[in-house]
Amino acid sequence: MAVNLDPVDVVIMAAGKGTRMKSKLPKVLHLLAGRALLQHVVDTAAQLSARQVVVITGHGAIEVEAALAYSTGATALFDINFVRQEPQLGTGHAVQQAVPALRDDGIVVVLSGDVPLTQAETLRQLIAACGGEKLALLPIDFADPTGYGRIVRRGDVVQAIVEHKDATAGQRAISEVYSGIMAVPAARLKAWLARLDNQNAQGEYYLTDIVKFAVADGVPVVAHKISDALQVEGVNSPVQLAELERAFQARTAVQLMEQGVRLADPARLDVRGDLQCGQDVSIDVNCVFEGQVTLGEGVRIGANCVIVNATIGAGTVIHPFTHIEGGKPGSKDAVEVGAGALVGPFARLRPGARLGAEVHIGNFVEVKNSTLARGAKANHLAYLGDATVGERVNYGAGSITANYDGAFKHRTVIEADVHIGSNCVLVAPVTLGAGGTVGGGSTITKDTPPGALSVARAKQVSIADWKRPAK
Ligand code: UD1
Ligand code: CA
Repeated sequence: MAVNLDPVDVVIMAAGKGTRMKSKLPKVLHLLAGRALLQHVVDTAAQLSARQVVVITGHGAIEVEAALAYSTGATALFDINFVRQEPQLGTGHAVQQAVPALRDDGIVVVLSGDVPLTQAETLRQLIAACGGEKLALLPIDFADPTGYGRIVRRGDVVQAIVEHKDATAGQRAISEVYSGIMAVPAARLKAWLARLDNQNAQGEYYLTDIVKFAVADGVPVVAHKISDALQVEGVNSPVQLAELERAFQARTAVQLMEQGVRLADPARLDVRGDLQCGQDVSIDVNCVFEGQVTLGEGVRIGANCVIVNATIGAGTVIHPFTHIEGGKPGSKDAVEVGAGALVGPFARLRPGARLGAEVHIGNFVEVKNSTLARGAKANHLAYLGDATVGERVNYGAGSITANYDGAFKHRTVIEADVHIGSNCVLVAPVTLGAGGTVGGGSTITKDTPPGALSVARAKQVSIADWKRPAK
């Protein structure tokens, strides 16, 4: 394929209202696979090595601009400029607003902020078809073309795009529609935009009218037709959003299975971010992965787990109904689980939980901002917050770290080989010396010496022949 050397500027139309979403949130900020619709489009633009992205905002402009400004990743690769379109007088009017931001030497790719699943490779082919001198359109055949602009050809040659509302009965029978995506030389685009009028059924400035100007100017109009409808499907309603979500997830599931991941049911997996899997990973039904999740070789994930921003070591088993909610990848809040660990069922790993190899975390155990060294175990009903736990520590059922005094958080240090009985309260800051034992039911407020048995509870008394009160 020819490599295009012209700089690419991407214009994303995102000023429309999205009435049919029936939401206060601007349409392009609704999430698909955990990312705003508009973010998908911006991330695709990033894959084109675009020189800049111009986002045309209108409805909800402040929110849309703020959301993108805070988004991470691909956005950092190029200039992202916002242009306001107020009021919204049509797609041609929208792109007119971008003209001051566009240099003459580039190819402009026009995208919509509510069409999230266009693939970069498709756009590369469209850019190649434009080649810096032609008007390249991305059409598709739809069995039901209602509502779309029709591609009107004479013989094979594209003559115009006629909007549905302006189309004759004969034109409405055309099944080849315009997807809303084009690539066009910037200088040509600017000249054509200046010639638009709104003498049409909707009283709007139609971007699609530039096709007839191209024809009139003798500029070739090429159609790069695709057949994958998913790539051009827009989101106008919650129903369409859910359909695209399913389609996206299905695609993700297939990609994972092609890498060797075993999914109990590809229809019951949700990846809202980036899921990296080693060899022989298996995932049971109804699991949700968010942010950056890495599963090492042979990891098994039970049914109904939610795993956010975590790295899980090789051979570890996450039993059903476990909730892992790590903070930003690479930050101190990320969650790490070492190799050969057992977690769950019904476990909760919160930000900053770092479990070493072969750690066991059982049912109804919550771990937050704590490090557990190799082989440490907390198997039932326990809380570890702001704790440093040594190797092979055994942490009894019902025990907690009292890490918060109402104003400050304090650390609990449990050295290697300590055994904590059941129902203990470890009042931080406190250090439990290596190899020590804490009797069940103890409230520990002072450091304990290594190797000692520490008991901090009322001594048991028994009163002989005790008579219960009687009526
Ligand atoms: C447009 C095309 C139509 C094509 C269809 C594909 C025109 C005139 N028609 O239809 O040929 O088949 O897309 O979906 O271009 N927007 C703005 N400002 C505006 C109007 C729209 O930013 O003033 C944005 C919308 O938010 C949306 C995109 O442009 O992201 C497309 O607008 P929409 O109203 O969906 O396009 P149609 O006119 O229906
Ligand atoms: Ca539309």
